[in-house]
Amino acid sequence: MALKGLRQMEPYIPGAQPKDADMIKLNTNENAYPPSPAVARALEEFAVSGLARYSSLDQSPLKEALAHQLGVSKEQLIIGNGSDDILSLAFLAFFNSEDPVLFPDLTYGFYKVWADLYQVPFKEIPLADDFSIDFEDYNQVNGGIIIANPNAPTGFGKSLDALEEFLNAHEDVVVIVDEAYVNFGGQTAIPLLKSYPNLFITRTFSKDASLAGLRVGYGIGHPDLIQVMQAVKDSVNPYSVDSLAESLATAAVKDWEYYRDTCMRTMATRDAFSKGLEALGFTVLDSQTNFVLAKPNHCSAKALFDHLESRHIYVRYFPKSERIKEYLRISIGTDQEMATVLEAMKETLTDD
Ligand SMILES: Cc1ncc(COP(=O)(O)O)c(C=O)c1O
Repeated sequence: MALKGLRQMEPYIPGAQPKDADMIKLNTNENAYPPSPAVARALEEFAVSGLARYSSLDQSPLKEALAHQLGVSKEQLIIGNGSDDILSLAFLAFFNSEDPVLFPDLTYGFYKVWADLYQVPFKEIPLADDFSIDFEDYNQVNGGIIIANPNAPTGFGKSLDALEEFLNAHEDVVVIVDEAYVNFGGQTAIPLLKSYPNLFITRTFSKDASLAGLRVGYGIGHPDLIQVMQAVKDSVNPYSVDSLAESLATAAVKDWEYYRDTCMRTMATRDAFSKGLEALGFTVLDSQTNFVLAKPNHCSAKALFDHLESRHIYVRYFPKSERIKEYLRISIGTDQEMATVLEAMKETLTDD
């Protein structure tokens, strides 16, 4: 369209949300298990009449529950409409220097999209050949850093010691650590918050809490950082967390025992599935998340992707990424689903 002032940009492309009744959906790292029964009860008890009012501005009950669970104070928390909301606001709030923001070349694809959208200068730092993040490579002038720990789509995590050294080396900028997958075997940076006021951690209810459709995420950081973010949030969409989401997310946090169990089950399924893939000759990256990145060695990733799709099994394929176009990212479902996936994969192994 030839109108003045229209924005041209390459959007983030989310994983498809097919609706086949009989599908196995392993393409967006959702949780295979339903939300806790406490969430269902909170939904039944939710007073619809309250929806006539705007939602709360500070999500105090949810913050209280989270503060208790995480061992932080309410003042260290900010709640958003999914962690995408929190991350997007963090780009606006923390990355306003002329120096480039650094992030890995292979990571959550949205970081680059936000940098573009908000015209933040950035530099992508290549992962090492083994797909790990080499913190030495970040020793250069920068206007902030964002990493996912564990990283996506590789599944690798960094240790607390390595993170501490990293934060020490970058005390003059905000370092965002995206912990979307941390409860599937990663190490949280929360203990470092006491000593590093430049650390900002983001979390989501979409993965470990089985609530991707509810859209709740949060940030944890020094109260001064939270205040800066709150000002940005209030300048964009102060009521972004709806009342129902707040209420159900609070019920989820209060029943964390349930989620501890489902996360453990997912991790056990992941480890067994990874072994199953290796037995079929795949190269499998060691994962600390609810997905695995794996490369078939008997056929192309595209051929396998198409075959799985023909069986209504949806996984993620990255044809545009030179480094991982021969890999598939497969979210971890139930034991039964993953057994079906392995069977479908076996159909692609030829005898010759
Ligand atoms: C690394 C990472 N961060 C953040 C998100 C966004 O999660 P949310 O559903 O909370 O917006 C995702 C979603 O896949 C992710 O992979």
